[in-house]
Amino acid sequence: MEEMKVLLRNRGKIDPISASEYRATGGYEALRRALEMDGAEIIEELKRSGLRGRGGAGFPTYRKMEFAYQAPGEVKYIVCNADEGEPGTNKDRILLSTDPCAIFEGMAIAGKAVNAHTGFIYLRAEYSYLMPILEAAIESSVRENCLGKDILGSGFDFEIKLRSGAGAYVCGEETALFESIEGRRGEPRFRPPFPGFKGLFGKPTVLNNVETLANIPPIFRHGADWYRSIGTETSPGTKLFTVCGNAAKRGVFEFPMGINLKELIYDVCGGVEDGRQLLAVQTGGASGAIINADQIDMKLDIDSVSASGGRLGCGTILVIDDRNCIIDIVRNNLDFFRDESCGKCTPCREGGTRLYQLISKIAKGKGGIRDLDTIMDLAETMRLTALCGLGHSTAVPVTTSIQNFRSAYLSHIDKDYCPICSQTGGEYYDSFDD
Ligand SMILES: Cc1cc2nc3c(=O)[nH]c(=O)nc-3n(C[C@H](O)[C@H](O)[C@H](O)COP(=O)(O)O)c2cc1C
Ligand code: SF4
Repeated sequence: MEEMKVLLRNRGKIDPISASEYRATGGYEALRRALEMDGAEIIEELKRSGLRGRGGAGFPTYRKMEFAYQAPGEVKYIVCNADEGEPGTNKDRILLSTDPCAIFEGMAIAGKAVNAHTGFIYLRAEYSYLMPILEAAIESSVRENCLGKDILGSGFDFEIKLRSGAGAYVCGEETALFESIEGRRGEPRFRPPFPGFKGLFGKPTVLNNVETLANIPPIFRHGADWYRSIGTETSPGTKLFTVCGNAAKRGVFEFPMGINLKELIYDVCGGVEDGRQLLAVQTGGASGAIINADQIDMKLDIDSVSASGGRLGCGTILVIDDRNCIIDIVRNNLDFFRDESCGKCTPCREGGTRLYQLISKIAKGKGGIRDLDTIMDLAETMRLTALCGLGHSTAVPVTTSIQNFRSAYLSHIDKDYCPICSQTGGEYYDSFDD
């Protein structure tokens, strides 16, 4: 099955730090078109395209711009979320390292839409090695008069500044990210007010994921109708999927939204490595649903995955083979989230730790059937009461795995025996704290 390279069109083909090479492929022509439009026209074109956020929630991109466009104030900001903290995900890294000018172009078009003259790229700490590439690409774009003052002779000014995180997953959450840029500890803010009205430095702000912003230039270059012809009715365009884990072939692949998950795993990625059996798939990152091998005949677009009880999220597909114990996978997820909880709200701070303790108890063969009910209750409380998405979705891997792999839980609870864990002789599990 052939990839459809809209976002990855320049990957490996141009020097990423050369704006002139980017321009030679038609780069910055979308910006030229947008500079001839007013803010309302740009937002209308984005509305017609149907573009939805690629950072996790799938929010319509034009709506965010509309909020900031309508908000009063002379100073507004565009923020590119390049925190990419989701375990196993590296689609944004590929865009940042191979075609950064496309991201700048998307930011500048967003800036023109809402009349913002400054954009920030917030780069996760682990990607700090990309700073020199981004700096050089910005300088090159300024020299080409595609960023900076009087862009392409339009009278519009737009500059891009770089900021780096310090290594916290929660700083990918938009308001924690603002706190971090402002020099404070990265903790989510209470909402409202929403970023479109009061965001970075208290000013109206449009924040988008790297991949979302990279979608904007092709829309303005080829038009909203062209864009809508790709993907599905409610999720137009292509999507970058990061396939990781036990797939025979792993990496970042671009396909129209709506590609079938089974085809992606078997036809594109060659199935499971070492000729093993597929046990499970986790879609959307570490807080995504865990489904079993019989459930993978499904479309990968924002609404289809939601309808099946999961989430497309940032498009990460973790392939899990039959050498893994599903409870161990879940325990590992929970270990990550209890560690990354910022601690600001009780449901997540205490609930995440309690979930980890319960799953460790079950993993060790010391759990009871009532622990499963406690887990489900706790999960619902966290979903309803936590302050941000981290706490809302920490429990998703546990609840979905209890639904889809009940027999694995019962083996640990009733029989005190798991064929996979038993191969470790139990020493591994004894090392967990509970
Ligand atoms: C704990 C947490 C971590 C997040 N991490 C990221 C991230 O690394 N990158 C990202 O783009 N969005 C992340 N998000 C989602 C952002 O808050 C925000 O919704 C997104 O960047 C919006 O961009 P979009 O509309 O283009 O999708 C995270 C959300 C939460 C709750
Ligand atoms: S849900 Fe977790 S990460 Fe989010 S604010 Fe509460 S404690 Fe912090």
